[in-house]
Amino acid sequence: AHQFPTGVVLTPARRAELADWAREVDGLIMEDDYDAEFRYDRHPVGALQGMAPDHVALLGSLSKTLSPAVRLGWIAAPGRWTEALVARDTGGAPPPVIDQDAFSRFLTSGSYDRHLRASRLRYKRRRDRLLRELAAHLPGAAVGGAAAGFHLLLPLRDCPADAVVKEAAGHDVRLASLDDYRTVPEEPGPDASASTLVVGYGNLTDQAVPEAVRRLAAAVERVRGQSV
Ligand SMILES: Cc1ncc(COP(=O)(O)O)c(C=O)c1O
Repeated sequence: AHQFPTGVVLTPARRAELADWAREVDGLIMEDDYDAEFRYDRHPVGALQGMAPDHVALLGSLSKTLSPAVRLGWIAAPGRWTEALVARDTGGAPPPVIDQDAFSRFLTSGSYDRHLRASRLRYKRRRDRLLRELAAHLPGAAVGGAAAGFHLLLPLRDCPADAVVKEAAGHDVRLASLDDYRTVPEEPGPDASASTLVVGYGNLTDQAVPEAVRRLAAAVERVRGQSV
């Protein structure tokens, strides 16, 4: 629903192709749908697991919706995998039963759904604020991947993203370069000076957004000044 880090959605045609491939080779797809609940400007995308339940294991956790500290997660797996999964010793202690029970009540009472709706609005407001600030301080940047999740892509012209990451870190703004997530270097495109920042906003307060963007824009300016 929201690929990390590009933020793209797998198109219906490619989803169908992927499900067909798994059936053909009798394969198992691991569907890591880690922030699908948080979509802002588009309809929900159904889980691939529903299209090919015998070939997809859907993984989920409460890390994004409640807190990574809760350490509760689940796998909706094809029936033939259940026994092997249950038998598998995953190492560490299982999540406390009391936490599981509390979450089960939170879920069945409808409170979890209410919490998700309220959180979606909260993050959408923050995302909108971030987009407004970016448009004001870095005009013309073609922001991508912002329709869902907690991060967006910010393409930069005439400016290496890794230098901006370093410069911004010196002013307490932590970012990543899209290149940090590549396993092989990208083929150079027509514009060799183009680069992209990954900007997360999940753990930022709304009030901190304007100052963070101001510092980011100042870092970009300084790096551009140095590269001339
Ligand atoms: C791609 C991806 N999958 C899953 C998760 C959630 O991981 P966990 O449930 O182990 O906290 C994250 C967390 O950021 C993630 O980036």
